[in-house]
Amino acid sequence: MTAQSWDPVRYQRNAGFVAELGLPVLEWLAPEPGETILDLGCGDGALTEELSVLGCQVVGVDSSPEQIEAARARGLDAQVMDAQVMHGRTLDFEGRFDAVFSNAALHWMRDPAAVIAGVRGALKPGGRFVGEFGGGANVRRIHEALIAALDRRGLDGRAASPWFFPAAAEYRALLEQGGFAVERLELFERPTPLPGHLVDWLDTFGESFLSKLPEAERPAAKREVAEALAVELRNPDGSWWADYVRLRFAARLPA
Ligand code: BEZ
Repeated sequence: MTAQSWDPVRYQRNAGFVAELGLPVLEWLAPEPGETILDLGCGDGALTEELSVLGCQVVGVDSSPEQIEAARARGLDAQVMDAQVMHGRTLDFEGRFDAVFSNAALHWMRDPAAVIAGVRGALKPGGRFVGEFGGGANVRRIHEALIAALDRRGLDGRAASPWFFPAAAEYRALLEQGGFAVERLELFERPTPLPGHLVDWLDTFGESFLSKLPEAERPAAKREVAEALAVELRNPDGSWWADYVRLRFAARLPA
């Protein structure tokens, strides 16, 4: 389990781009009105709402109670649920959905076989699993700098990492072992402009690393990471970007 908490207001300010940049994967999903769809790791429900507007019967799940509260405030059917086997509970929908959709969430789930098994159980025969998340060398520079910042302070930075960024072949094999036929799968670089300073990104997404440090040491560690990365990730106009790599896939169960 990651030591990451989600404040919806901070998330909207520093990560509102996540849902916007997730729109292309909705095209891979090709949702039809009336379809039953599970949005796995729905966050504050921005894309769940898009599916609802398109006429789908959509349920959002997320492990963060704060994000689920924000999704419910949009009038969505949203439930706190962890897709990994946690607290004796996983996705327990028993073949209810035509499709499971996921954007920018699967890299937070470090037991992908459990997740894929849960998705399989939630789908009808012939159902599809379509998603996008961080793969390969996703945010490599930031990841390595965070690990180094903890290592310098006598901690095991790599062990603190909450992220799962598989190679394309690795995730394809996991889907196939989970009983899916992979219809499309792509890994591609998506350099992403950040809405604020890299320190804001670290505040929003780096908590699993930074919470290993005493609170008083965290601001200096964040500044240190940003300073180390400024040469590569700060643009001449002072804005920042991140070295995102996306793994996008569409897979289907046998009918
Ligand atoms: C991502 O969307 O790839 C991502 C976001 C936050 C932390 C790590 C990865």
